[in-house]
Amino acid sequence: MPNSFPNSMDFTGFNAPSRIECDIFDLVVAGKLPADINGSWYQTVPDPQFPPMLGKDTYLSGDGMMRLFRFENGHVDFKQRYIQTERFKNERRARRSLHGLYRNPYTDDPSVRGKPRGVNNTTPIFHGGRLLALKEDSRAMEVHPRTLETLGEWNYQGKLRSQTMTAHTRPDPETGELYFFGYEANGLATRDVAYCVANKDGELIREEWFEAPYCAMMHDFAVTKEHAIFPVFPTTSDLGRLRAGGAHWIWEPTKDSFIGIMPRDGSVKDLRWFRGPATSAYHFMNAYTEGTRVHLDFGCGKVNPFPFIQEASGIQVHPQDMAGSFVRWTFDLSKPGERFEATVLGPGGDMPRAAEKDAMKDYEIGYYQTFDPTLGPPLIAGPVGAGFNTILRLEVRSGKLKSFHPDGQSTVQEHFHIPSQTPGHEGYLGFIVDRHAESLSELFILDAQHLDKGPLARVKVPLRLRVGVHGNWIPAAAL
Ligand SMILES: [Fe+2]
Repeated sequence: MPNSFPNSMDFTGFNAPSRIECDIFDLVVAGKLPADINGSWYQTVPDPQFPPMLGKDTYLSGDGMMRLFRFENGHVDFKQRYIQTERFKNERRARRSLHGLYRNPYTDDPSVRGKPRGVNNTTPIFHGGRLLALKEDSRAMEVHPRTLETLGEWNYQGKLRSQTMTAHTRPDPETGELYFFGYEANGLATRDVAYCVANKDGELIREEWFEAPYCAMMHDFAVTKEHAIFPVFPTTSDLGRLRAGGAHWIWEPTKDSFIGIMPRDGSVKDLRWFRGPATSAYHFMNAYTEGTRVHLDFGCGKVNPFPFIQEASGIQVHPQDMAGSFVRWTFDLSKPGERFEATVLGPGGDMPRAAEKDAMKDYEIGYYQTFDPTLGPPLIAGPVGAGFNTILRLEVRSGKLKSFHPDGQSTVQEHFHIPSQTPGHEGYLGFIVDRHAESLSELFILDAQHLDKGPLARVKVPLRLRVGVHGNWIPAAAL
């Protein structure tokens, strides 16, 4: 194969494709892993097996790779395997990429027209005894949790009508239910959104559809004990543009943002839409209901941050003009109208996460990531270009912050939270550190409450691990 991966930020630095499937038994650990860390951390990674058919592409198109770090009694084993989607298998047979623009099948090679083009490269979840690899443009693929062998598409035993399933699902830690949705549920650029619930055994018990105000990239949603919240920000799609061979997404700041809120056990007919000016956000840290008020916490930006979407929209925005704030939006259901309140909780950032036990209710602590320019120039890592270099611990009520950064020549991949077995202990944060100078990776484990004190343990990986998207920690007892 000729090496014709482009020299763009999507394919260089820590975004350079790895294409490595491997097992490493008993990784070297510096420091001491706490005895109560036993379980598996799964992470999904876009890792293209072939250079883009059209000469350029986004990092987000890469074939899904599943990564597993298995922690057992102070030891860590590593495994990495491709998710064998139909697209992956078709391209492997052809020994080249057969797919064109991101999420535009009208630009594909004629040999794969009408065939599935999902890559399932965004989030691994474990629910109802199944490990699923998700990406929002298609249905889940099931992967064996030990061997990482691909088991096939998961469509809830034929029950799921939606053609898509979000990469961001919301498990209720108390009921074991999984809340999720699918947008473009009825096909490309449709406004249909499916709201779905699976019970603790992984059976689909509910699927109800509604129409969003326009077809938007609905990357995440939020659920409280009482409500489901569907944010719609103006990164939009259009079937005419797709048929003409254009981009799936453009940023359309003339459109408003909409937030639909409904009782989570009610009907989509009860959806009430709040409205504000154009903003851009991808991930929600948490949400909860307090009487008639619903709170939603997240990193809120001014413009879509993805370079390939900005290019398709005919804009180029300097990173300092994109940075927003970490905010709380509060919606008062007792008041009429479309307005809501916004409160700043901290500096701008993304990849927010609260401990799973705190999901859907009033909480004290959350963790997210930011880019601190005083630590050094931006380093290429991840879909936006510059990778995050700092992890923040936010005390939500007081706004008090603690931070951790590895050094000026490293970026951090998304962190995960590991609960502790000790009552009252805040647990641990784990994350991959991208060592740009050495082109190698390490997995850091920190005490979540004292993350400013640095790592308790550093798990050394003798490879450069291409920047992943999302991951989830599954305790050994659950597996
Ligand atoms: Fe995401």
